[in-house]
Formats: sequence, structure tokens, C-alpha cells
Amino acid sequence: MATFHFHNTLLVFLGLALFGFNIDTVSSEFPIREATVRDIQIAFHQNKLTSKKLVQFYIREIERLNPVLRAVIEVNPDAVKLARKADLEREANATVSRSLLHGIPILVKDNIATKDKMNTTAGSYALLGSVVPRDAGVVVRLRKAGAIILGKASLSEWAHGRSPKAPSGWCARTGQAVNPYVESQDPCGSSTGSAISVAANLAAISLGTETDGSILCPSSFNSVVGIKPTVGLTSRGGVIPLTPRQDTVGPICRTVSDAAYVLDVIVGYDRHDAVATREASKYIPNGGYVQFLKPDGLRGKRLGISNYLYFGFPKNSGISQLFKQPLQTLRQGGAILVDHIKIPNYETIKDSMFIGEQIAMTAELKLSLNAYLKGLITSPVRSLADIIAFNNKFSDLEKIGEYGQDDFLESEKTNGIGELEKKALLNLTRASKYGFERLMRKYKLDALVTPFAQGSPVLAIGGYPGIIVPAGYDEGGTPYGICFGGLRGSEPKLIEIAYGFEQASKVRKPPSFKP
Ligand SMILES: *[C@@H]1O[C@H](CO)[C@@H](O)[C@H](O)[C@H]1NC(C)=O
Ligand SMILES: *[C@@H]1O[C@H](CO)[C@@H](O)[C@H](O)[C@H]1NC(C)=O
Ligand SMILES: *[C@@H]1O[C@H](CO)[C@@H](O)[C@H](O)[C@H]1NC(C)=O
Repeated sequence: MATFHFHNTLLVFLGLALFGFNIDTVSSEFPIREATVRDIQIAFHQNKLTSKKLVQFYIREIERLNPVLRAVIEVNPDAVKLARKADLEREANATVSRSLLHGIPILVKDNIATKDKMNTTAGSYALLGSVVPRDAGVVVRLRKAGAIILGKASLSEWAHGRSPKAPSGWCARTGQAVNPYVESQDPCGSSTGSAISVAANLAAISLGTETDGSILCPSSFNSVVGIKPTVGLTSRGGVIPLTPRQDTVGPICRTVSDAAYVLDVIVGYDRHDAVATREASKYIPNGGYVQFLKPDGLRGKRLGISNYLYFGFPKNSGISQLFKQPLQTLRQGGAILVDHIKIPNYETIKDSMFIGEQIAMTAELKLSLNAYLKGLITSPVRSLADIIAFNNKFSDLEKIGEYGQDDFLESEKTNGIGELEKKALLNLTRASKYGFERLMRKYKLDALVTPFAQGSPVLAIGGYPGIIVPAGYDEGGTPYGICFGGLRGSEPKLIEIAYGFEQASKVRKPPSFKP
């Protein structure tokens, strides 16, 4: 017992020294709302908080707020038990150095498989009761780090792969998710529940997925930080797919630091997504991503600002006014804003991008979804054709009359990667090469700055990373973010920029939402 106390005190001391906290300022009643991962770890070490208390707090908040927000599909029935286990591990062995995520509750988007008592359904009744073969690769890593899978976050059903008519944040199993800042405002998607839940303190941290905008956009609309990693940096093994060419899993959190801690845990090789994760492993920096959380991260960074739609801030759009202050913050932090960027053949690039993405994704969806469904242990549906039939059979439940399933129907008509798809894919490669890549190299940019999730198609088609950070609130109180996008593997630079901006601006505030 004496040794335990001794070690514990030592760790608290080390923790305080390391994190630069003054003991007098820490109150005995630990405020969980808005706490960062680091705050929580300090509270654990000081015995002011247990993982169990933390999980119970979030479960109470979910019970209180979720009937309106609809950000959570399922709560893990074993969450309290897992938290108790994490607490015991810490008590039994205070000297072991653990991951920063140890004992931290996380919500994962409902298209990310968990092999536990929870369902993995992409929000659809069609997959309810299906049994996944194993945890998704990212969930394996989270559990190994000691994180508590608190539950499944809601989403735009099938990650918005079913129909363009279905609204963002709607899925059959939970209904319409609500923006906690402005109830009547679009919460955006498809990682809607992941963004809402961290914004409204229903969880400490969350995971989303992005194919084109699905992390960046809801993060922007719910005033949180989202990292869309380079494709392949995080495993898509066990993730219900749209297209492996663009799908990526990333953190959605309240701060850049928390997002970087999560990124550190989830990156790396996975044999269930072998080719892409092996290829992207070369980008993982020695010592991880936390070292790039530098307060002066903006200094000397070359940031591209353009007037082209999708590449920047279109002229006379009203957007410029919203971003006047954020851009000023970047300048004041020592960044070099490279303005008046020229993109030759912009119109062609834009057309190739949108037409190509649509054609390629329509064919890839069927191929990848069918492969995922075949891998399930048991499932009510085994193919895209089965899902379409299920939706027709349960059309009331799935609101087929209202929202349709046009993208599914179009996809079902395709027959693999033929001549048309090959042409589209070539178009996409060229659009990236002569668009974004040329731009980045020609102007020697560290990042391209874009408003909201406006730049997401550019980042999507080339598998490039992006980080979005809260930048302000418009007149009606709707949040908006600023996005930094870079070349593949440029997460270290993007984290420096995002963190530098966040520390200089600190605009995020929790929603004043009352149920
Ligand atoms: C505590 O951690 C040390 C170092 O990892 C390990 O050798 C030891 O077996 C652990 N003790 C318990 C009780 O888990
Ligand atoms: C998973 O779905 C089944 C219905 O198939 C349901 O009975 C069960 O409660 C669900 N699990 C959770 C954790 O909600
Ligand atoms: C390729 O891009 C051009 C525009 O640059 C467009 O007109 C054409 O339809 C695209 N083809 C495919 C198959 O995507």
C-alpha cells in the first residue's frame, strides 16, 4: 500500500511537472464538461476522477440530450464494466506508462465495426443483427491503448451513399440528428453524430470517416476539430465502405491536441487493409504526432489562398467577410499567406473532378460494399441488391418514398471497372496532378487554406489529408471552420498549422443547447 501511494504521488508530481499545471488551481470537484484528454489524465492521477465516473457522466448526458440531438445510436452495455477494468489496471500498477487514451471513453461512427454487444449498421435497419468477423482495425488499436468504446455515433445513413435526397444526419435507426448550436441549422454529415456528440459533451472524443467531406463538414458545422487523414494512414479494415480509393477514418474532437492523441493511436499497418496501410506507413513520423503541437506552429508556414471555388475563397461571396479575422490571425501568427494563386485550366480540372468522382464511386460502391457484406459472419443482407430489396420491403421504416435510394440503384446497374470508369479514374489522377499537386509545388505551399469543407472534393480525389478547426460563428450563431489541406503524408505540418491557429484564436465555445 505504501509503495502504491509513493508511486502514485510520484506520478502526480511528474504529471504536473510535465503538463505545467499548478496544484492550487485544480479544484477537488473535477469538471468533466469540456475537459481535454490531458485534463482527464491529470484528474485520474490525482484520484479526482475515475474512468467509471467519466463513463457514467457521459451515459447520463446521452440519456438527457440524445432524445433531441440523436447523435448516438447505441451505448455499449459493457462501457461501465470496461471503465472499471481500466480503473483497476491503473490502481494495480501506477508506475506503468500508459497511452493518453487509457480509460478515455470514445464514440465511433456506426459504420466502424465493433465485435462486442453492439451492432454495426451504418444507421440502416438492413444490417441490424448482422455479426461482424472482428473489430475494425482502428478499434483494435483503440482497445489496445485502453480507450473505452462508449457507443456508436449516428450518421447520414450509409455515409450518404444511398441517395442525395436523404438529408445530412438522417438515418433510419435514429432519425434526424440536430445541430446543438442552432437547432434549425444543417448539422452536416456524414459523421454527424461523431461531431455533435463531442460538441455537446456526450463523449470525450470520437471517430468519424470521410469519403468526400464527411469529417470536415460536420466538424465545421458543429464547431469541433476534425482530421481527415491521408488515405491508408488509418485502416479501413472493418469499415462499411463507399470506395477504398477515398475512404479514411479520422478523429473528431474538441481540440487539436485531443485529435492528435487519437491520430497517434489509430494510425498504422493492418493486415485487413494491407496494401494501403503498408504504403502509407512511411508517412508516420518517429515519435508520433504529439510533437507537432507547437504554439508557434504558424511561424514561416506558406499558406495558399485562392479565389477558385473548391480551392479557396471565391470573390464577392460573403465568405471573405467571415474569414477576415481568421486570416488575420494566421498572418499575426507569422504565416505567409500566398495570395493570387493561378490554376491553369481550372474549369477542366473542376469538371474532371466532379464527373470522374461520380462515375468512379458509383461502380466502386457496389464492388466494395458487396465485399464487406460477404465478409460478415451472419447478416440479413449479403449484397447491394439485397439492401435494395430490403429497403423496398421496409420502405416505411427506411423512408424510401421520401428519400429514395437513387445512388444504390445507379450503383447496382454498374458492372465493375470498365472503359468508362478507367477514363474517369485517369481524369481524377490528372485533376490531382495538374490541380492540387501542381499548385502546392509551384507556390511552395505548406497547406492550402479553404473555408468550411469547401475544399473537400480536391482533398478527396487524391487521398490528401485535411484538418478543420473552429474559426467563428456567423450572425445566426452557426459555427464555421477553417480547413488546412496538404499533400499526402503532410499531417505533421497540418497539425502545426492547426494547433498554432487554434491557440491564437481559441474561438470554440460549447453549445448553449438545452433540451
Ligand atoms: C506492473 O507493470 C510492470 C511493468 O510493465 C510489470 O512488470 C508488472 O508485472 C505489472 N504488475 C501488475 C500487478 O500488473
Ligand atoms: C443490437 O441489435 C439487436 C437487434 O438485432 C438489439 O436487440 C440489441 O439491443 C442491439 N444492441 C444494442 C447494444 O443496442
Ligand atoms: C473527363 O473529364 C472531362 C473534362 O475534363 C469531361 O468532359 C469528361 O466527361 C470526363 N470523363 C469521364 C469519364 O469522367
